[in-house]
Amino acid sequence: MTLSPTRPSAIGTPVARVEGPLKVTGTARYAVEYPVENVVYAWVVRSPVARGTLTNVETPEGADVLTTLWHANAPKLGEADDPELRVLQSPTISYRGQVVALVVAKTLEAARGAALSVELSIEEQEHDVLLTPDHPGLYTPEKVNPAFPSDTSAGDVEAALADAAATVDVTYETPALHNNPMEPHATTALWVGDDLVLYDSNQGPSAIGSQVAKIFELDASQVHVVAEHVGGGFGSKGSARPNAILAAMAARVVGYPVRLALPRQALFTMVGHRTPTIQRVRLGASSDGVLTAIAHDVVEHTSQLFEFAEQTAVVTRHMYAAPHRQTSHKLARLDVPTPRWMRAPGEAPGMVALECAIDELAASLGMDPIELRVRNEPTVEPEDGTPFSSRHYVECLRVGASRFGWETRPLQPRQRREGRWWVGTGVAGATYPSMVMPSTATVRIDPTRKVEVTVAAVDIGTGSRTVLHQIAADSLGVPLENVTVRIGDSSLPKASIAGGSSGSASWGWAVDGACRALREQLATMTGPVPAEGLSASFDTTPDVKTRENAGKHAFGAHFAEVRVDADTGEVRVSRLFGQYAVGRVLNPSTARSQFIGGMTMGMGMALHEESVLDVATGDWVNHDLAEYHVPAHADVEEIDAAWLDEEDLSVNPLGAKGIGEIGIVGSPAAIVNAIWHATGVRVRDLPVRLDKLLTAPAF
Ligand code: MOS
Repeated sequence: MTLSPTRPSAIGTPVARVEGPLKVTGTARYAVEYPVENVVYAWVVRSPVARGTLTNVETPEGADVLTTLWHANAPKLGEADDPELRVLQSPTISYRGQVVALVVAKTLEAARGAALSVELSIEEQEHDVLLTPDHPGLYTPEKVNPAFPSDTSAGDVEAALADAAATVDVTYETPALHNNPMEPHATTALWVGDDLVLYDSNQGPSAIGSQVAKIFELDASQVHVVAEHVGGGFGSKGSARPNAILAAMAARVVGYPVRLALPRQALFTMVGHRTPTIQRVRLGASSDGVLTAIAHDVVEHTSQLFEFAEQTAVVTRHMYAAPHRQTSHKLARLDVPTPRWMRAPGEAPGMVALECAIDELAASLGMDPIELRVRNEPTVEPEDGTPFSSRHYVECLRVGASRFGWETRPLQPRQRREGRWWVGTGVAGATYPSMVMPSTATVRIDPTRKVEVTVAAVDIGTGSRTVLHQIAADSLGVPLENVTVRIGDSSLPKASIAGGSSGSASWGWAVDGACRALREQLATMTGPVPAEGLSASFDTTPDVKTRENAGKHAFGAHFAEVRVDADTGEVRVSRLFGQYAVGRVLNPSTARSQFIGGMTMGMGMALHEESVLDVATGDWVNHDLAEYHVPAHADVEEIDAAWLDEEDLSVNPLGAKGIGEIGIVGSPAAIVNAIWHATGVRVRDLPVRLDKLLTAPAF
C-alpha cells in the first residue's frame, strides 16, 4: 500500500471545529467536570493584607471539613522555578490575595463556608503597590522576556532629536489588565499510589507535568496531566498555576481526589496579570517624514517573589528604520502579585505607545499616517541588519486602506459630524514574532486507512485540534473523516505549550513530519498495512534548534472607525478591520475567529479594561466581571479580518507564521488614533473613558 499527499484539500478550507458539537451539547469535559469517585472540594483563603507575616490560622470546625492547610501543617514542597508555586510554605505574605490557607471539605459549600470563617493572625507591614515613573526602586533587569537584552541603542538619539525638523515626545500609560478566560484556573487532582493525575485547565500538559513533578519530587512519568478541553487561557495558563499544586497537595493529605476551581475574584490575584506600563516615546524626523531617531523607554512592575520583565519596547526594535535609536526597560519590585503573560505580552502594550506616537508625528508633519509608515519601512531588521524572512507590512497598510476606504479621510481631526456624533478613523501597524517550539507527534494508520494522530498539544479554544486533522489528512492523502486526533494529555508524545502563537506551526510540523515518515515506511513495504497497523513518530527538536528565529515576524495593519458622542464623550467603535500577512492560513474559519477575537480584546484594552489597584489596601478593587469591563457583543459593531496570500517556508514546512496574538497588537492604537481623529483629543492613558475626553480642553 502506498499513500501520497494530496494537493491541499483540507488545509486552507474552512473546516468547522471538530469538537464543536461536544461543546454546544455540554458534553465536552473541563477540569472540574470529570466524574471522579469520592471527590472532595477545596477553597482558597487569601491574604487580606499586601505585606506581612502570617503568625496563626484559627481553623474552622465543621462536620464536613476535612482539613485546613497552611504553612505550619502543609506538606513540604521541593524546588520550583516559579516561587509562586511554592504555596503554603512560608509565613511571608508578598501581596494581597496571595493564598495563605486551603480548606478541604466534603462539599463545595462546606469548603467555601469554612474558608470564609478562617481567622488569620497577621503582623502587617507597610506596603508599596504604586508604580511611578521615578519610583526609587526602579532597576534595569538583566533581560526582558523571554531572553532579550533590556536595553539597546545605536547612534546618538539625543543629538538626532535636537537636530530633527519635527519631534514627538509623549508618554503613554497602559493599566494593569487581567486575563478572564471563561473557564477559571481549575484542577481535579487524584493520587494513584505514588502517581499523580491532574485534570487541569492549562496551555501545555507536557510542561505542566514537568513543573508539577519537580515540585513534588516525582519523576515526570509519574504525573499525568489531562486538559482535553480548555475554556481559554490567553497566556495565564501557560505554566502551572497554584491551583494545580494546591489540589495535588490537598489530595495527598486527605486521601481523596480534590477539586479546586478558583473563583473569579481569585483569578485577579493568584494567576497573574499584565503589568501596567509607563512608556515614553520620542521620535525625530525630517520635514518630509523620514525618521532620524526613535526612543522607547518603558517603566513597569514586577512582584517581590519573581522577576517577570515584560518585553514592552522590544517590538519597537523591528518596526521602523532610523539611524539613531534606543529602547530600555526598567522595573520596580512592588508588593503586588507577579505579572504574567497576557495575549501578545510586550507587543500589545508596546504598540499602543509606538503606534500612537507615530500618529502624533504624522499629525505634526501634516502627513497621512500610512504614508509616514511606508516612508520608514526598513529593508532589513533595523537594529542588526538581519534580513526579514518575509515582510508584507506595506502591502497590509495599502491593501487594508483600500478595503477599509481610507482615501477620502481628511488629514485634520474633528472634521466629520453626524448628528450627535463626531466620527473619525485611525490606523496602526501590527507585528508578532513567528515562532516554533520543539514537539513530537505520532501517527498511526490501520488497514482501513483510518488514521490516529497523538501529540500532547492542547486546544484552548483556538481551533488547533481541527487544524491538526487537516494537516494529517492532506499529508497522508486520506479524507478528513478518517482522521482522529488525540491531544490534551501529557502521556501523549511531548509537545510545546499553546503560547507565543506557535501552536499550530509547532505541532503541525511534528504531525506533518510523522505523516512523512509513515509514507516513507509504507513506500518500502509490499502488501497491505498489517492488521495491527503501522505507526511513525517525528520530533522537530533538531530542526527547530537549527532554524534561525531572527527576522521572522507576522505583520498586519488595523483600521478603526469610531463615533464619539459630542455631549457625553461615549465612544462607539463602528468599524474595525484587520489586514494581515501571517504566512499560510491553515483554516480560514478558525483563523478569522482568532483575528477578530484578538481585535476585540484590543478594543477592551482601548476602551474598557483596567485593573484598578487601590494604593491604601493593595487590592485590585474591580476584581470581577461586574466591574472589570470586557467588550460585550453590543460593543462590537462591524468587525472583519482579511489576509494576504503569503507562505513562509523558512518558519516551518507548513509556511504558517502564527495568528493567535497579532489581532490584539495595534488594534488598541488604531482605536485611540481614531478617537483623536474624531475629536481632536489625544488621550494618552488607557483606557479612553468618557471622563478623560470630557475634561480635555479640546473636547
Ligand atoms: Mo500567549 S500570552 O503566548 O499564551
